[in-house]
Amino acid sequence: MYSQQSHIDTKGREFIDNHVQYRAFLENHRRIMEKAMKGGPEEAIRKHRSRNKLLARERIELLTDPGTPFLELSTLAAFGQYDDSFPGAGIVTGIGMIHGQEAIIIANDATVKGGTYVKETIRKHIRAQEIAMQNNLPCVYMVDSGGIFLPAQAEVFPDKEDFGRIFYNQAQLSAQGCPQIALVMGSCTAGGAYIPAMSDETVIVRNQGTIFIGGPPLVKAATGEVVTPEELGGAEVHTTRSGVADHFAENDQHAISICRSIFETLQPGRKQQLSLREAEEPLYDPWELPGVIQTDPKKQTDPYEVIARLLDGSRFHEFKARYATTLVTGFGHIMGYPVGVVANGGVLFAESSLKGTHFIQLCNFRKIPLLFLQNITGFMVGKAYETAGLARDGAKLVHAVANATVPKITIITGGSYGAGNYAMAGRAFNPHFLFMWPAARISVMGGQQAANVLAQVKSEQMQARGMPPDPDGIEQLKEDILKKYEEEGSAYYSSSRLWDDGIIEPMQTRQVVAMAIATSLNKPWAEPRSGIYRM
Ligand code: COA
Repeated sequence: MYSQQSHIDTKGREFIDNHVQYRAFLENHRRIMEKAMKGGPEEAIRKHRSRNKLLARERIELLTDPGTPFLELSTLAAFGQYDDSFPGAGIVTGIGMIHGQEAIIIANDATVKGGTYVKETIRKHIRAQEIAMQNNLPCVYMVDSGGIFLPAQAEVFPDKEDFGRIFYNQAQLSAQGCPQIALVMGSCTAGGAYIPAMSDETVIVRNQGTIFIGGPPLVKAATGEVVTPEELGGAEVHTTRSGVADHFAENDQHAISICRSIFETLQPGRKQQLSLREAEEPLYDPWELPGVIQTDPKKQTDPYEVIARLLDGSRFHEFKARYATTLVTGFGHIMGYPVGVVANGGVLFAESSLKGTHFIQLCNFRKIPLLFLQNITGFMVGKAYETAGLARDGAKLVHAVANATVPKITIITGGSYGAGNYAMAGRAFNPHFLFMWPAARISVMGGQQAANVLAQVKSEQMQARGMPPDPDGIEQLKEDILKKYEEEGSAYYSSSRLWDDGIIEPMQTRQVVAMAIATSLNKPWAEPRSGIYRM
């Protein structure tokens, strides 16, 4: 392995200009994150605390091993939607260490509309369970929720990936051997009652946690029976009479200590072996990344400069350095974990696809996790390329990405457009984790290209119908499309809708990738396999 040399002058004009521009993105990002992490309105937080309850993130902090990191997922779910009244979609999810074991933690934030579920809350909850399934992780549910956000029932109740999927997943996870543990720290009503009831082991807090299929108002309306929440489904009832819960806790802290004690009884499952090296800092400081990234879509970020700031010792064993140079492939380590890097340095050609396919096969057979650094406008278009079989070779890469048997971790560092998104392990290709950098963008094509395509189609349509040209109408159409793509292409629009696992700062990438790989070691990886490559 040799060191990746940087050719950037960190005192030069371009580096400084880039840095200044990216800092604006970072400052905006930090502001947005800070607001989202506060949770619900002050009044709701005060009410929550007055009940002697800890906030969702405080509960997680207490549950996880001291000094260990918590990889929070999709902090900006529902951002910019519902008049911003659902920070984080009212739920905190992530991967934390409990007694040395990585676990998925899903904690309702009751300060956000009583911890109720809108579409994004469900997507976030289900995504966390999906990660548990893909990596064989135990799940801890810290329940404090009014269940479905009733005005939105049509978007959250009936479909396959709606509220019911949470309980289906619990049954699947339990059968797969992933322990399901619920801590009932607040309300757990109607369908929500199934979270503790479907769990392997359940803890409930006295005078605070309640579990019932129909709450007191419903019972009164249905049968005329008058009953308090505690009598209907409190800790006393469920731990002494109904058997719906297994452990009685005095308060949040006690419930958390019981959960940690449950973790002491878990037996570790079979792990994937991976030979690690001692972690090392890159030769080039990751804090220089903002100066390396080009935010002007007309300029290409140099993938080698990014790689030099991500890999241990900046050491990169490049594969096929002289061939199909718009796709950079090679081996290195991140915080001691081996990785196979696939990074864009321009559009994809047929030969880049072949190079990528070959490299992915190497990683599958050598059992090295894949790191996709996605910054791609798409495949090269034009008659010569199509005739030469661009789609045929592109399909090989898409096949290889889809069937890769080692973990795939995708970071969208710049643009993610069109079929380039597929070939570089976009969300549909089931990467173990997908994160975006703050200035990254994702859409079917760039706004300008989409505007031009639609203007062209419209003009031809009008001409075919014998209508007079309408330059003003076409200009307006272009403007509208550009505006729409500008908004919908942003990383924040994506993260709000759970198209990714969160927006991370470039400087956090090494830690995030290392945690992602560490998590993936909880499930042995499958043997290499592939479909039929079109030759
Ligand atoms: N759907 C929509 N909104 C709900 C809701 C639900 N299921 N449950 C609570 N909310 C809203 C409240 O309207 C309130 O909104 P606001 O802040 O805009 O006024 C906010 O969530 C907080 O509710 P509040 O009752 O003031 O808080 P609380 O902490 O005292 O009680 C609950 C929280 C969840 C215990 C209580 O609101 C409740 O029992 N909700 C109904 C639960 C239910 O029957 N769910 C069935 C769903 S399947």
